[in-house]
Amino acid sequence: MHIGSIPLPNRLFAAPMAGVTDRPFRQLCKRLGAGYAVSEMVTSRKDLWASLKTSRRANHDGEVAPIAVQIAGTDAAMMAEAAAYNIERGAQIIDINMGCPAKKVCNKWAGSALMQDEPLALEIIEAVVAACASHNVPVTLKMRTGWCEAERNAVRIARAAEQAGVAMVTVHGRTREQGYKGAAEYDTVAAVKAALRIPVVANGDIDSPEKARDVLAATGADAIMIGRAAQGRPWIFREIAHFLATGEHLPPPSVLQAKRWLLEHLDEHYGLYGEYTGVRTARKHIGWAVRALPGGADFRDAMNRLETCEDQTRALSNWFDALADRHPLLPTVVAANEELLEQQA
Ligand SMILES: Cc1cc2nc3c(=O)[nH]c(=O)nc-3n(C[C@H](O)[C@H](O)[C@H](O)COP(=O)(O)O)c2cc1C
Repeated sequence: MHIGSIPLPNRLFAAPMAGVTDRPFRQLCKRLGAGYAVSEMVTSRKDLWASLKTSRRANHDGEVAPIAVQIAGTDAAMMAEAAAYNIERGAQIIDINMGCPAKKVCNKWAGSALMQDEPLALEIIEAVVAACASHNVPVTLKMRTGWCEAERNAVRIARAAEQAGVAMVTVHGRTREQGYKGAAEYDTVAAVKAALRIPVVANGDIDSPEKARDVLAATGADAIMIGRAAQGRPWIFREIAHFLATGEHLPPPSVLQAKRWLLEHLDEHYGLYGEYTGVRTARKHIGWAVRALPGGADFRDAMNRLETCEDQTRALSNWFDALADRHPLLPTVVAANEELLEQQA
């Protein structure tokens, strides 16, 4: 699998998620089996590039290649400039966000809202491809199936994008109107795949090895992209890789292994954000990691009151050690729920 001329180790991708897939989390996903991970979106608004939030997003120190940066905006010239700016800061692939119900940029809706305005969408794609061409940087596009049920124009936009020089298209199997409601559908993803020669990536609701296998089969997609299911469970990538290769399930990681991964993640997280912001933004990652485990909800409440990196890591470490005494392997959600019921009985 290649994006342009850039080879990828496998076809399991981590989805861009604002506020989640920062550099430490992308590194973790790659370490645990993701072949590719896309940054959180970076705004095309120049006045925000110097902000702490955007400069952290454009920091790729030590990131495992290929470095893929997603840009979001509504103006072709600004998007082209944003592409060039991020290439200067290390981006090796530029991804255009037409997939997420993004916020307003310059009084217009960016992200998947662009699918409603095909001429503007194409103008942006052409401008970004032109800006990246001289750097030999491939451009990819992330989109939804369309604006709404009656206007599923993913195939048309994807074809135009391919003609304009886009190197890969990812389709989340929902319309913009759906938000995250309902179930993702894969027929439109399959139709996009059938219409294009460039790689197509299927995305939406992939949360297990079996689902990964079924979505690959149903769509013929070249790769799959996983977002929410990797929150608190970044080892899902290696679980899927193992299942696709052997037809068998990997055993869950040991509790102590999961603890080590989480502590390594936190260490890099604090390094990027510093103590004050780091402790606060780490809470959601810790919450996701423990939410399905026995006693996880109580631990999360207590952990949310801690104010220093040291207290947070110590509490986490002690909690996982105690869990490991009862469960050598990370208990599944069902087992965790059963234990909860036993405690309540
Ligand atoms: C918290 C959150 C933030 C997201 N941010 C972005 C983003 O910045 N850019 C983007 O293209 N999609 C974004 N998405 C959409 C995901 O990339 C993905 O398309 C969607 O979650 C469906 O995949 P999933 O079912 O595997 O989660 C976001 C999703 C979530 C849950």
